[in-house]
This record gives sequence, structure tokens and C-alpha cells, in this order.
Amino acid sequence: MSLFDEPPKGLSTINLFADKKTKCEFYNDNFQNYKRYGIRKAQLVIADIPYNLGINAYASSTEWYIDGDNKKGESKKAGKAFFGTDFNFNIAEYMHFCSKLLVKEPKETGKAPAMIVFCAFNQMQTVMDYGKKYGFKNSYPIFFIKDYSPQVLKANMKIVGATEHAVVLYREKLPKFNNNGKMVFNWMKWNSDSKNIPKIHPTQKPVNVLAELIRIFTDEGDVVIDPCAGSGSTLRACAELNRHSYGFEISRDMYKKAKKEMLLQ
Ligand SMILES: C[S@@+](CC[C@H](N)C(=O)[O-])C[C@H]1O[C@@H](n2cnc3c(N)ncnc32)[C@H](O)[C@@H]1O
Repeated sequence: MSLFDEPPKGLSTINLFADKKTKCEFYNDNFQNYKRYGIRKAQLVIADIPYNLGINAYASSTEWYIDGDNKKGESKKAGKAFFGTDFNFNIAEYMHFCSKLLVKEPKETGKAPAMIVFCAFNQMQTVMDYGKKYGFKNSYPIFFIKDYSPQVLKANMKIVGATEHAVVLYREKLPKFNNNGKMVFNWMKWNSDSKNIPKIHPTQKPVNVLAELIRIFTDEGDVVIDPCAGSGSTLRACAELNRHSYGFEISRDMYKKAKKEMLLQ
């Protein structure tokens, strides 16, 4: 049984950030500049790293065409990237950041920190290999199941993708794990967000899904970092769950939108 069999907790916007005791710090900067900021070490680093799809971002989506109809010709999204920074993401720098910013391995069991990396299926092995080089010797995959596919244009040619993927990485000891005595599968339903969560990033992850992961791998009062925060969805989930959060977003426009619309700051 998956935790997702329970209805997701409704996310409120009222008073979400009123409690100043829970930190929610968001920086318009490259995560590699983290030393400029007084960031506390994290129990969980969670990120959706750029897929480096470049100009093929909309390749199998109807969005490539005007009104999704290929008879009407190509839309403005044809031959464009999801965002200007989806090109040469450096996984080694990312792993270095995580190795520095995750809390040290604790003496006790059941308290170790973890890293969760959302990535494309064909990036999973690379993520695990780089993880090992930076001390994250252990890992396992999580699959997220959708009831729709963005790959409509390939529907008559092959089995289309309706899953998202992530890798959980850790050093030695198994990460902190809150399961209320229930078995948690390595697959979860991709529960979309309701309308009170703004949709502002082309590859935005549902706050519902992030909240479920944060609930499992951290306790209230723990610190969570998202080095590639995009819409601020991870930070929003943390505020709801009383976890301190820090996020970086390199794009000025996305940062401004996320701060105003997602984080209400
Ligand atoms: C796949 S998106 C993340 C989407 C996010 N998970 C969400 O739910 O909105 C990756 C984001 O990382 C940002 N990014 C890429 N390289 C970065 C870097 N070195 N430092 C900070 N942000 C970066 C991109 O601009 C992009 O918005």
C-alpha cells in the first residue's frame, strides 16, 4: 500500500508563511554560490535537475503545433527549450553541492540524510554513478505513475511515457523514514495539484508529490534544500509541512514569478 492511497492533504494559502519561525529562503542565484548565504545543512536535498533536452523539449508533445494540431503548423514552442537553462547542467557540481550541504552521517540509525533527484529515465544511471563519486554509495529508484502522457504525437508508434522518475541517494545508513507502520512502495501516484497552486514552470512538479516525499524523509523542523527550485514548489510544500527550506533559481524571471505567486513573498 502506498501513502498516496490516502487523499492528499489540502494545501492552504492562508497564513502559510505567517509563522516566521519556519524559514523559507529563496535566492536568485546559481546554487554553486551557496557560500554567499548562511544556509543550514539539510536533512534532505530534493531537486528536479534540468533534463538537458535543449531545443527538443516539446518534441513529442502536441504543444509543438498551433492548437495542438499539426495541420495548423508549428507553434512558438517548436524547436524551443523548456527554459533557457536546460542545456549544460553540470551533475558533478550538483553532487559536490549535496555532499557539502547535507548533514553528516549520524551515529544513530533511522536518522541519516538523503538526496532525491528527479531526472529523466536515461539520466538515472549517470546520477547514481556521479552520486558514488561524491560519497553517496547507495541508491534506489522511485517511479511516479501518471494517468496521462504528454507524448501524444508518438501514440501510434510506440508505448508512450506516462511515468516520472527519481533516484533516492544516501551515504551509508538508511535515510530517515516516516511510514506510520505502512509499507511504502517504490512507485507513487502522480497526484496533480488543485487550482490553489499556481502553474508557473513548464516542468513544475506537483506540490502534493513533493509534500509526500518530504513527509517520508524528514520531520517537522528539519531543513530541506532545493538547488534548482524553479516555481518554488518544494519550498511551498516545506512551508505547509513546517520544514525549513532554502532554494536557488538561476532564472531571474522564474524567480520573480515563483516568489510572488508560489511563495506569496
Ligand atoms: C527542471 S526545473 C525545476 C522545476 C521545479 N522542480 C518545479 O517544480 O518548478 C530546473 C530549474 O533549475 C534551474 N537551474 C538550472 N541550473 C541551475 C543552477 N546552476 N542553479 C540554480 N538553478 C538552476 C532552471 O532555471 C530551472 O528552472
